[in-house]
Amino acid sequence: MASTSDRNRVKFLLDEREIPTKWYNIIADLKTPPAPVLHPGTGNPIGPQDLAPLFPMELIKQEVSGQRWIEIPDEVRDILRLWRPSPLYRARRLEKALGTPAHIYYKYEGVSPAGSHKPNTAVAQAYYNKKEGVTRLATETGAGQWGSALAMACNLFGLQCKVYMVKVSYQQKPYRRVMMETWGAQVVASPSPDTQSGKKILEKDPDSPGSLGIAISEAVEDAATREDTKYALGSVLNHVLMHQTIIGQEAKKQLAKADDEADIVIGCAGGGSNFAGLAFPFAADKLTKKKKLRIIAVEPTACPSLTRGKYVYDFGDTLGLTPLVKMHTLGHGFIPAPLHAGGLRYHGMAPLVCKLFDEGVIEAKAVPQVATFEAALQFARTESIIPAPESAHAIRVVIDEALRCKRDGKRQTIVFNLSGHGHFDLAAYEAFLGGRLQDYEYPAEKIEEALRGVPQVKG
Ligand SMILES: Cc1ncc(COP(=O)(O)O)c(C=O)c1O
Repeated sequence: MASTSDRNRVKFLLDEREIPTKWYNIIADLKTPPAPVLHPGTGNPIGPQDLAPLFPMELIKQEVSGQRWIEIPDEVRDILRLWRPSPLYRARRLEKALGTPAHIYYKYEGVSPAGSHKPNTAVAQAYYNKKEGVTRLATETGAGQWGSALAMACNLFGLQCKVYMVKVSYQQKPYRRVMMETWGAQVVASPSPDTQSGKKILEKDPDSPGSLGIAISEAVEDAATREDTKYALGSVLNHVLMHQTIIGQEAKKQLAKADDEADIVIGCAGGGSNFAGLAFPFAADKLTKKKKLRIIAVEPTACPSLTRGKYVYDFGDTLGLTPLVKMHTLGHGFIPAPLHAGGLRYHGMAPLVCKLFDEGVIEAKAVPQVATFEAALQFARTESIIPAPESAHAIRVVIDEALRCKRDGKRQTIVFNLSGHGHFDLAAYEAFLGGRLQDYEYPAEKIEEALRGVPQVKG
């Protein structure tokens, strides 16, 4: 029989030796292969050589691999030890406040030095670049979480790092910039005058708040025009999602320790990486063992790529420099409202997440900003951790599902990814507490206009 302390347990922990040794590649378990990636100029499927100016060959191989498990190098695992395995918490105080029979668990990725899940892939990407002789990486950042993660990883491997930070975040979060600079990175507000892409946008709109799509154009151009530099992306791509699957692998072991099994798995989705990181190892059981399980991706109503976007080929960036991928998109020219969840302001979504959505393996929900912060506050006032605004999107749906369980008298187990803390997002909390936060309606006209710019490609 469980002792009182076991019955009240809130943290389910693993030993350092239990850090996963392999990444899980969901491509191996899909019913049909993913749609090919197309060359932006010719519209033909691209080969590894087309991606070589941007990425090291080992990551390109991972991007197209069909192998189910890929070994994590010891050098990468040795760095992951700094904060992994991350804890799985049972949200007992939130459950009690809601009066729900549901069991709520959260995997807390905010324990990493940068404060989110992003270092899980940043470390791996910096490692492979270093191994292939690259000396400098260029990237974009929305919320500042990815830029911080890459700055940290580059510092550990002795690489230079240039970060194009979406202007609205650069202004909202000065300390994120200082964090990146502390780890030795160079940070500029995007759109910037440092690239042709940035200059083009600034000519049209000197006050552009920027967007992830624009910042990606700048970082890609930087990498493509310098011999010493490659590009690193913090989400969307297959290999990035795969690096995050250590989250779900750990969570499954931890749930087993709690003697529980997930009925509902939830994650917020910007480009799709933290969602995939938690969800794909669970989705594997749905795909291969026909396990009954709901998996929900949550996005903002102001940037609803999965729930309102078209499933077509589009560019990953605003200026159209990247290859074309098949994804749910709001149009690469769409610039989302300056939401406080900077990491969810992306016009597209990871092709693998889109494929699972299209095949009905996962669901998607969109939630508005104010209701999201109400959920964040309820979480902070029960569990005490102040969540990143991105993660709070997941919390909104967790609370809604837990209340549904209460209405229906159902004892379901809900697991979500608390992808980061909100310590650098207190300006957003200040706005919310001061009653100054607003909802942004679904920008139908702007999205229609942006969708007209999507290239006409069959598929
Ligand atoms: C804390 C946090 N969660 C989630 C996201 C969304 O990104 P992704 O969908 O790749 O997990 C971000 C992006 O910056 C983030 O900082």
